[in-house]
Amino acid sequence: MRIGQPLEHEVIIVGAGLAGTWAAMTAAQEGLTDVAVLSKIHPLRSHSGAAQGGIAAALGNVRPVADTGPRGPLEQVPEGDEPVDSWELHMFDTIKGSDWLGDQDAIEILVKDAIDILYKYENMGCVFSRTPDGRIAQRRFGGHQAPRANYAADRTGHVLLHTIHEQALRHGVNFYSEWYVLDLIVEDNVCRGLVALDILNGTIHTMRAKAVMFATGGYGRAFKITSNAFANTGDGVAIAYRAGVPLMDMEFVQFHPTGLYKHGILMSEACRGEGGYLLNADGERFMHRYAPDKMELAPRDLVSRSEQREIDAGRGAGEDGQGIYLDLRHLGKEKILKKLPEVRQIAISFLGTDPIEEPVLIQPTAHYSMGGIPTDIDGRVLANADGDLVEGFFAAGECACVSVHGANRLGSNSLLEASVFGRRAGYAIAKFMESGVEQQPVSGDPAEEQMDRIDAFLKNDGPELAEDVLRDLRQTMTEKCGIFRESDKLQEARHEVLKYQERMQNARVMDKGSCFNTDLLNAIEAEHLVTFSEVIVAGAVARQESRGAHSRTDFPDRDDDKWLFHTVAHRNGQSGPTLSYKPVTIDYEKYPPQARKY
Ligand code: FUM
Repeated sequence: MRIGQPLEHEVIIVGAGLAGTWAAMTAAQEGLTDVAVLSKIHPLRSHSGAAQGGIAAALGNVRPVADTGPRGPLEQVPEGDEPVDSWELHMFDTIKGSDWLGDQDAIEILVKDAIDILYKYENMGCVFSRTPDGRIAQRRFGGHQAPRANYAADRTGHVLLHTIHEQALRHGVNFYSEWYVLDLIVEDNVCRGLVALDILNGTIHTMRAKAVMFATGGYGRAFKITSNAFANTGDGVAIAYRAGVPLMDMEFVQFHPTGLYKHGILMSEACRGEGGYLLNADGERFMHRYAPDKMELAPRDLVSRSEQREIDAGRGAGEDGQGIYLDLRHLGKEKILKKLPEVRQIAISFLGTDPIEEPVLIQPTAHYSMGGIPTDIDGRVLANADGDLVEGFFAAGECACVSVHGANRLGSNSLLEASVFGRRAGYAIAKFMESGVEQQPVSGDPAEEQMDRIDAFLKNDGPELAEDVLRDLRQTMTEKCGIFRESDKLQEARHEVLKYQERMQNARVMDKGSCFNTDLLNAIEAEHLVTFSEVIVAGAVARQESRGAHSRTDFPDRDDDKWLFHTVAHRNGQSGPTLSYKPVTIDYEKYPPQARKY
């Protein structure tokens, strides 16, 4: 490794998924000529591309009709101008889905802007599936009262990402592909740039910027079974936290009900949206016990808990009894081939199961991080619970917490959030630059500090590898801070995570080279994972209630009097995070907290 020359851009955005690319494209469209996007992988491999089933927007293109039986229609095109959906309904569903922890001002923006952003995608040439009369096709998703997941078969994220990436290139955005961010430079509460590694040749650069944005994705890789890509190691979240930025609501981690058995790979919610059933080992469609009204289309937190209850009661399937069946056979070959071709192929490739012929083994899988770097509605990062800003620092997408998802995200709202709040951050960055902001000086040599950090890894000769520590971390997080949580196990998790942090200090890296050293990158990512996992556990220990995806068996009820607050965690040196709490933005006239039943 060696130190390369310092670099400078007006704006640097880290992460090339939907949020980062929307922000970059918008800022460029607004007239900024020096916008750079850094991505540790090729931009088109960003995890937004893995979202399958749809992007929510109340277009009202499709009318829900009763489930008329195994092969009957679930949706129909409305006649004339019949209203079938509205942003107000979408807003209510999102608030209820969030278990009232979502900030309602942000949710209103999300659901109103949804409609415009969908037509923007369409105007940019995005290849959506279509209804018979040519409108954008929509399907049902859990917790939504109407079919409002707009889709392109089961590759929606893929087509959205390609569409916006093309537009960013067209507007002159400069992509640094396979560059890895190592550090964020914040001094006196002003963000001045970052330090990044050119993975190909092992050069470390200080990169100054007037504005930096993180759109670095989620942190599902802290868990053993996850739908998240290998890249989703929460780098941005950990780096911001180490730089003194707080994290919000980190204890809320979503488990998607249908990850491929033992692999965790996403089997889209579209499978259930199109009418798929969940069966236990006895072949029983068990959801009637837990959500008699919505059945398989209850929200994800509820469905995952229901699956886990069946498994814990000994009614799980698969060789270890940890699986559940996803049955699509009754949908018929034609529908599966047309609407779910990717998930069919995944099931065939990884389990040798063709969903046309047999039920597919699935299990809950860590899928989405509701918490992250706190921002206002324009992607500006908050320095504390009082709403002060970290000047020049922006965030959007899964690494951020604005918060529209609260304690549980509804499926199809994440592609939407990344698009809407990525675009808003792009506008906010352009406005920030118009205010005549100057490039700020950087004290010391941040690249040198990162060189020291990397050298320490390369020189370590401890007995174990970073991947050993990581394997244990994932086990702990899954078993002790997973779908169901309780005090004793969480306390154990807390101690174990601290031990993993210590073990990481001696973890060995086998590859000592500088060219494309993925072994070293894995070690740095592992350091990030053990850093923010402590915050997840601390938030979960403290929150003595059950809300959304945070389910405490020792505190089974939601407790609005004590816990209708966001958790804000600050790094406090060696003694772990300091937690404070921030009120949720609620319109008590229109959307007061209610019991959450499905
Ligand atoms: O199930 C899915 O297709 C995932 C979509 C999402 O997380 O929004």
